[in-house]
Amino acid sequence: MRDLKSILIGVAIPLAAIPSASAWGFVGHEVVATIAQIHLHPSVFPNMCTALNFTSTDPDVPLCHLAPPATWADRARFKMRWSAPMHYIGAVGDYPRQTCQFPGDHGWVGRKGYNVLEAIRNVTTLLEDWTADSVPSFTDDDTANEAIKFLIHFLGDMHMPLHLTDRDRGGNSDKVMFGNKESNLHSVWDSLLINKAVRVTPRNYSRPLPIPQIEFNLRGTIYDSYVRRIMWEGIMGQWKDEVESWLTCPPPSPAKDLDWSWGQSILSVWNQLSGKEGISIDTDDETICPYHWAKPVHALNCEIVWPAALDEPPYTHARLSDDTDDCHDHDDFALLEDDFASKPRTPKPHPKYLQLDTPEYAGAVEKEFVIEKLLAQGGIRLAGVLNYLFASVEGQSDIRASKLRIVTV
Ligand SMILES: *[C@@H]1O[C@H](CO)[C@@H](O)[C@H](O)[C@H]1NC(C)=O
Ligand SMILES: *[C@@H]1O[C@H](CO)[C@@H](O)[C@H](O)[C@H]1NC(C)=O
Ligand SMILES: *[C@@H]1O[C@H](CO)[C@@H](O)[C@H](O)[C@H]1NC(C)=O
Repeated sequence: MRDLKSILIGVAIPLAAIPSASAWGFVGHEVVATIAQIHLHPSVFPNMCTALNFTSTDPDVPLCHLAPPATWADRARFKMRWSAPMHYIGAVGDYPRQTCQFPGDHGWVGRKGYNVLEAIRNVTTLLEDWTADSVPSFTDDDTANEAIKFLIHFLGDMHMPLHLTDRDRGGNSDKVMFGNKESNLHSVWDSLLINKAVRVTPRNYSRPLPIPQIEFNLRGTIYDSYVRRIMWEGIMGQWKDEVESWLTCPPPSPAKDLDWSWGQSILSVWNQLSGKEGISIDTDDETICPYHWAKPVHALNCEIVWPAALDEPPYTHARLSDDTDDCHDHDDFALLEDDFASKPRTPKPHPKYLQLDTPEYAGAVEKEFVIEKLLAQGGIRLAGVLNYLFASVEGQSDIRASKLRIVTV
């Protein structure tokens, strides 16, 4: 049996270079999965859920749910260390914010194939093969099971802006304060801002919405109200008219391709000269285009994620000061419940680290619905890709159309 590792990357990698970036916390991944679940075509379930080993005979419980498998890749990361670099892509030289190149002149860190955008393409291709009528390149259902779980997870990860940059190890090296918590920029975006958003969700969302398609897919979790709010105010509200556009990919443009390959060949010459391991990537087609989708997500790093104050005294020294605390915050639910339990406290100003739980920073992210939009885009695109791969519509043989589709609410 070929395992997914050999299909994904072909070769073994040394265990040494375990990268640091952690992932959207559990809450983020499960919210993305739940939003996707709401937009799936019903015919996806029989096809996909068999591969996920899910069955339910209870009519009040969805046949299967994407949220539990959404965090599998993080839990398995320690066992499958080869998969760790596939949770992110490190754009080099993507700042200052005025240029915000993606990537900059020096390309990406890491080796070809070992990044989140190529991993999405890779598992998608693998599942296309698996579901195609033609002879699949493998028949192993366990491999399909893992590929689906990776796909659910990686589409979430690529909507986290700090998973798209190499700067300061994706913000892991930038010490900051969040309220009374000493943390780092990466964790603030993975977990702390989401936990806060869940906590401040208006009370009216604790009541069910009159929309069975939404309610059926909620599971009595701590973030149910938050999903209702993202659906009501976001996907069915302020983004109603743009949701369709999240699913589109640009048509191939010969002129652009030329520029791209020219740029890449200069890049590879540069890399040969400098001995750097920059990579070129080629992930997009007309239907599924992780690189195209990632560009505006990455741009948020320059617009809002990276506080300008981190580049100025007295906070510059808080950068790159600590390389030790890598895989923290994995017990997000515990963290979140902690937050609920604790009494409001007045944050103490910390002399050394920049405070990010302020009206100017956390307040602006909250007011502009930045995180909610990222989670919504991740969910909608995941639904589009899963519908493309697994839906079968009677009398319609071209379900694999050239455009992703979702079931709208
Ligand atoms: C996945 O990527 C590796 C190289 O990184 C390649 O050898 C393999 O064929 C790819 N698999 C699929 C299904 O695209
Ligand atoms: C799914 O279930 C079948 C039979 O119960 C088992 O053989 C298989 O290993 C399971 N696959 C996974 C990935 O759990
Ligand atoms: C909940 O209350 C907010 C105001 O806080 C309002 O904008 C929103 O429409 C309400 N949602 C529902 C579902 O009634």
